[in-house]
Amino acid sequence: MNRISRSLAVASVATAVVGLSNLAAGKGAGRDSLQALADKIPFPRIKDPMVIDYLLNTFVNNIPLADIRMDLYRRAGIKVDPTSNIMMHAWVLQARGITIGPNCIIGPFTTLDGRGGLTIGRNVNIAGEVLTIGGHHVVDSETAEGIVGKVVIEDNAWVAMRATILPGITVGEGAYVAAAALVNRDVEPYTLVGGVPARKIRDRSRDIRYTLHHAPNWV
Ligand SMILES: CC(C)(COP(=O)(O)OP(=O)(O)OC[C@H]1O[C@@H](n2cnc3c(N)ncnc32)[C@H](O)[C@@H]1OP(=O)(O)O)[C@@H](O)C(=O)NCCC(=O)NCCS
Repeated sequence: MNRISRSLAVASVATAVVGLSNLAAGKGAGRDSLQALADKIPFPRIKDPMVIDYLLNTFVNNIPLADIRMDLYRRAGIKVDPTSNIMMHAWVLQARGITIGPNCIIGPFTTLDGRGGLTIGRNVNIAGEVLTIGGHHVVDSETAEGIVGKVVIEDNAWVAMRATILPGITVGEGAYVAAAALVNRDVEPYTLVGGVPARKIRDRSRDIRYTLHHAPNWV
């Protein structure tokens, strides 16, 4: 690389770094353009839930500014408390079937499936790459009949990375689902479960004093 192209490369990287840090700090033209683009999406007027999901899963989930992203999730129909954050790259199905209480963290690349209804209580941590699944097809049905089931994750529960929660399951208050668990039965309150399929490992302490404060700045 000659001296001129090296200087140009250094200058472009520096410009990109300044632009990104301004964007992350919520300053400058980048933020304004994103906000202007976000304001153009007429969510309340979109009738087809698949169009809503498409916009959420291609554009909204890639917005690195949590306040703009969360505002769009709300306008799309997710009932989510202002103290909670859905981190980047979530995959949403049927936004209007999803309710998330206060002080929750939904980690990156997590699937939130509202087809059968998904209710997450207060102070719940859902780590990255968790799957909540709201429906399936009956295995032996001639018509591959679809059925849905509501997933409920109660207050103070903790779901670790890559856990999968199947349709119709309730994860009880204060329960802890270990990493990579496959949860196909209700989880009793204040128990730790893990494995495939998930089984009780032990009780979890009921003395929970933390409150998750994540919103609005984390990506
Ligand atoms: C559950 C977890 C916290 C370990 O809890 P712990 O109380 O320290 O458990 P231990 O390591 O003492 O293990 C207790 C038993 O559970 C088993 N176990 C632990 N984690 C397990 C898992 N993810 N799946 C299946 N079994 C597991 C252990 O093998 C052990 O079994 P044994 O008694 O038969 O040997 C940990 O495994 C885990 O899942 N961490 C989450 C990581 C993560 O997602 N981080 C991001 C969160 S924001």
